[in-house]
Amino acid sequence: MKKQVIIAPSILSADFADLGNEVRAIDEGGCDWVHFDVMDGSFVPPITIGDNVCKAIRRHTEKPIDVHLMVNHPETQIEAFAKAGADIITVHQEACVHLERTLQFIRSLGKKAGVSLNPATPVSTIQHVLHCVDLVLLMSVNPGYGGQKYIHAVTDKIREARAMLDAAGSDAWLEVDGGVNAETIAEVAGAGADVFVAGSAVYGKPDYAAAIAELRAIAERA
Ligand code: DX5
Ligand code: ZN
Repeated sequence: MKKQVIIAPSILSADFADLGNEVRAIDEGGCDWVHFDVMDGSFVPPITIGDNVCKAIRRHTEKPIDVHLMVNHPETQIEAFAKAGADIITVHQEACVHLERTLQFIRSLGKKAGVSLNPATPVSTIQHVLHCVDLVLLMSVNPGYGGQKYIHAVTDKIREARAMLDAAGSDAWLEVDGGVNAETIAEVAGAGADVFVAGSAVYGKPDYAAAIAELRAIAERA
């Protein structure tokens, strides 16, 4: 059965000096989730925002905050983000030595547990943790920056992940992040994704509501 399309604009492309209004604008513009990109200057070169900013935006939306931890040692951040009001906490497979333990820890705090894969990391690396995964996040760019081009080789990975989740009887969300826009979202949805992160394709447009509606309409048709 096809799952509901979820549009998750990434505030990475928002105006950080006006974040409360920027979050309210996508909320009122019809987004489903708020995607929150955390970067530590180590797992990826840039440094972005942390749990204190998550806590600050929590007052501006009741929609799920989808925290994407692009950090080394993510286990040191999880409790802080849980307290800051995150709903979904996603760690990178590449950053976790004890991935199963980390995912179980997220769940033990009453949060949804996500696992993310860089473009070069095979889907098979998460096969044996699916019992404690609520969300799989496939990167379709190398993480670190908004506004990059979708890597088309990832489309096959989306199909592979979809097949793996279905075979395991998992109802985890399949989220895709990077270069998702009106030109690429049909390909992403057609391959079996149900959650679509869009940074520049929402915040780079003058009318956020129209951008969200357009992405949703194309994904629903695919
Ligand atoms: C990239 C981040 C993405 C980013 C996507 O490392 O994880 O969430 O904001 O930006 P766009 O949609 O512009 O590719
Ligand atoms: Zn992200």
